[in-house]
Amino acid sequence: MGSSSPEREKGERQSEKATRVKKGLGWIEWLRGWLNVIFEMLFQRIAASHLQNPMPLPPVNNLTCIVTGSTSGIGREIARQLAESGAHVVMAVRNPKAAHELIQKWQTEWSGKGLPLNIEVMELNLLSLDSVARFAEAWNSRSGPLHVLINNAGIFSIGEPQKFSKDGHEEHMQVNHLAPALLSVLLLPSLIRGSPSRIINVNSVMHYVGFVDPEDMNVVMGKRKYTSLVGYSSSKLAQIMFSSVLQKQLPAESGINVVCVSPGIVQTNVVSSMNLSFLCIMYFFFRFAASYLLCRRGIFLELYKPHIVLYHISYLVPKKVGVATDPQVPEYCELLKADNWPTCAFISQDCRPTNPSEEAHNTETAYRLWEKTLEMIGLHSDVVERLTEGGEATCCYGNNEQE
Ligand SMILES: NC(=O)c1ccc[n+]([C@@H]2O[C@H](COP(=O)([O-])OP(=O)(O)OC[C@H]3O[C@@H](n4cnc5c(N)ncnc54)[C@H](OP(=O)(O)O)[C@@H]3O)[C@@H](O)[C@H]2O)c1
Repeated sequence: MGSSSPEREKGERQSEKATRVKKGLGWIEWLRGWLNVIFEMLFQRIAASHLQNPMPLPPVNNLTCIVTGSTSGIGREIARQLAESGAHVVMAVRNPKAAHELIQKWQTEWSGKGLPLNIEVMELNLLSLDSVARFAEAWNSRSGPLHVLINNAGIFSIGEPQKFSKDGHEEHMQVNHLAPALLSVLLLPSLIRGSPSRIINVNSVMHYVGFVDPEDMNVVMGKRKYTSLVGYSSSKLAQIMFSSVLQKQLPAESGINVVCVSPGIVQTNVVSSMNLSFLCIMYFFFRFAASYLLCRRGIFLELYKPHIVLYHISYLVPKKVGVATDPQVPEYCELLKADNWPTCAFISQDCRPTNPSEEAHNTETAYRLWEKTLEMIGLHSDVVERLTEGGEATCCYGNNEQE
């Protein structure tokens, strides 16, 4: 056995480099990510000053929209205003009683202003993949169209220890990424019936500081220390990467577009749950703006009301015959697709198309994440192809349990 030649050593070094897996964000990426977050927190009002607030919606009669997590915060506002603009709204919620109470209140407030609001409630608990599969099956069995799916429900359990769903997944990953991914794929037959249609994922600027290891989506292997920030930011990045591959897999003829939006900082339970110590850290971080931030405990709470996100919706509802809506989104999505752009459309809090994080452009990771996600939610890797060709999905959750 002779000593290895320089060529062989060079080859080994190259293959070692090729197989070296990225373990996290580089410090420049990390710094840029935080600058994006800070910029949004401090300047969102200025950046979005060109928008009307509240944003009037165009009439959206004849559109059917499913809004997940519509019993509070952004989702509640989206559901109410879409319904007031004439859409058929399905509140997909884990607490149907609370949703029925809201509908009653909205109908009372709306009475005399037009036809009764067309809203219904369906139960959906994203902490259970079985519940997602049952929801999709119930909806698809109506054989009706779906025009807009708004994956809004999400959690950010700030400062809490790592928790797992009964499906065995880290809760942020399940609620913010895995369950919406399953819902989006299983609802494709209805979205095809409603084409042109779209899937809107309420994402977050926090994805800029996120990193996903497709082999360790639940952050359990000890490669990275789990914090709620890691859980939340990774889940939001995972959603963008999955959406990017989904958009690529959907043939143009399906007429379905996938969009991620960052709503900005909105006064909701997510933000209100920030604890005092977190606010103190933010104070020191932004001490140059202390006079503004220290006004009261809810430092960001006055920055924005949920109205802003409604602009996204008016901007994003699909163009239908007789409905004056903005055609820009399908055009933009088609442009990205034609350019073989690595990511799906990402709309920033000021309602302008923008680039998601550098890591979101990592197509190699995105495809590995796509495969891993499908495995975790019990779907075949060719599921999109099958569904868009009129076939059926086999899923190992719900009544579809076949594997
Ligand atoms: N607020 C912000 O500043 C901000 C910034 C960036 C991104 N976002 C994103 O915006 C989205 C909406 O958040 P929000 O600010 O409106 O928060 P929110 O007021 O806490 O609303 C979250 C909604 O998600 C629902 N939900 C939570 N877990 C669920 C589950 N297991 N199954 C079904 N529904 C579930 C909640 O249901 P219940 O009513 O039953 O609790 C609630 O309706 C989230 O995806 C969030 O990440 C928010």
